[in-house]
Amino acid sequence: MTKALITGITGQDGSFLAEFLLQQGYEVHGIVRRVALEDPGRRLSRIAHILDRIHLHPASLESYPSIFRIMDKVCPEECYHLAAQSYVSYSFDDEFSTINTNIDGTHFVLSALKEKCADCRFYFAGSSEMFGKVCESPQHENTPFHPRSPYGISKVAGFYLTQNYREAYGIFACNGILFNHESERRGFEFVTRKITNTVARIKFGLADRLDLGNLDAKRDWGYAPEYVRAMWLMLQQDNPDDYVIATGESHTVRDFVSRAFDVAGLDWEKYVRVSETLYRPAEVCELKGDARKAQKVLGWQPEVTFSKLVELMVEADLTNIHAAHENLAVNQ
Ligand code: NAP
Ligand code: GDD
Repeated sequence: MTKALITGITGQDGSFLAEFLLQQGYEVHGIVRRVALEDPGRRLSRIAHILDRIHLHPASLESYPSIFRIMDKVCPEECYHLAAQSYVSYSFDDEFSTINTNIDGTHFVLSALKEKCADCRFYFAGSSEMFGKVCESPQHENTPFHPRSPYGISKVAGFYLTQNYREAYGIFACNGILFNHESERRGFEFVTRKITNTVARIKFGLADRLDLGNLDAKRDWGYAPEYVRAMWLMLQQDNPDDYVIATGESHTVRDFVSRAFDVAGLDWEKYVRVSETLYRPAEVCELKGDARKAQKVLGWQPEVTFSKLVELMVEADLTNIHAAHENLAVNQ
C-alpha cells in the first residue's frame, strides 16, 4: 500500500483527493488542526463518510516541530500540500496571517520532508492567482507571474520554494498551477457557492436578495474531482515538473449568476444587487488557462462543462436546503 499524506484534508480538494487515493488503494494520512478533532461534526464534515478509513494527525501549519514529528512518524511516499488560507478576499484583510501561514507552512513541510523522508514525492497547490494581472491569454507554464493579492504573493513564494527544493536538494517536487475549481463541497465564501446556495435559499423563500461584487471578473472554472486526479498524475511521472490545470474556457461572474438562476427557474435580475463594498482593492480581471502540457504529458483532460458544473452545484444546494427544510418541519 502506498502511503500518502495530505495537508488540508478537511478542505474541498483534500476531501476529494482522500477519496480518490482510497479508491487507488492508498493508505491515507491527513494533517488537521487540533480544534478539528474537538469539533468533528462541523470541522470534519467533508470527510465524515471516510473517517474510519483514514488516519488523522493533529498539527499546526505554523509550527515546524509539529510538522516534523508527523513526517517522522508517517514517513509518506507521496505528500500533497493543500493546506492554506485560500480565500483571496480575506487575504487583504489579514495579509500577515495569510502570508505567514502559507509561506511558512509550505517551507516547514518541504524542510521536514527533506530531513525525514527525502524520497517522498511532493505536490504543491499553486494557483492561477499567481498570474494576477495577466500579460497574455491564455496563461501557460511560462507566463510571467504578477500576483495581485497577499494570497497570490504567498503562492508565488510557495511555487519558488517548491522549485528550489527540486533543484537544490533533488526532491521530487511538483507545482500544480490550478485554475478555479468548484463543486458541491466548495466553501460558502467563494463566489460560485455563494451564488448557488443563495439561489437555493431564494427558491425556498429563505432569502430575497443576492449581494455581489464585480460581476465582470472572468474565471476559468472547472470541476474539483477532476482536478485532484491531475495532482495525483503529476506525482506518477518519471520526472517532477510544473503543470497548468484548467478548462481553457473563461466566463464572467455574471454568466455564472445567470446560469444558476436559470437552473432554478428564476430571473437573476430581480434578485442580484451589486455592492461596491464587495469589490477587491486589486482585482484579477480575467483568467484563462492553457493546459496543453498536462493533456500531452499527463493525459489529463476535463470533462465537466461550465454549464454542467453550475447545474450540478445548484441542484446539490436545492437538495440540501430542501432536506434541511424537511428536517425542520419534522422536528417542529
Ligand atoms: P479550502 O477548501 O479552503 O481548504 C483549505 C484547507 O487548508 C482546509 O483543510 C483548512 O483546514 C486548511 N488550513 C487552512 N489554514 C490552515 C492552518 N493554519 N493550519 C492547518 N490547516 C489549515 O481550499 P481548497 O479549495 O480545497 O484548495 C486546496 C488548496 O489548493 C489551497 O492551498 C488553495 O489555495 C489551492 N488552490 C485552490 C483552488 C481552487 O479553485 N479551489 C485553485 C488553485 C489553488 P480547516 O478546515 O481546519 O480550516
Ligand atoms: N468571493 C466572492 N464574493 N467573489 C466575488 C463576489 C462575492 O460576493 N462578487 C464578485 N466576486 C468575484 C471576485 O472579485 C473574483 O473576481 C471572482 O468573483 C472569484 O472570486 P472567488 O470565488 O472568491 O475566487 P478567487 O478567484 O478569488 O480565488 C479562488 O480561485 C483561485 C484560483 O484562481 C480560490 O479558490 C483561490 O484559493 C484559488 O487559488
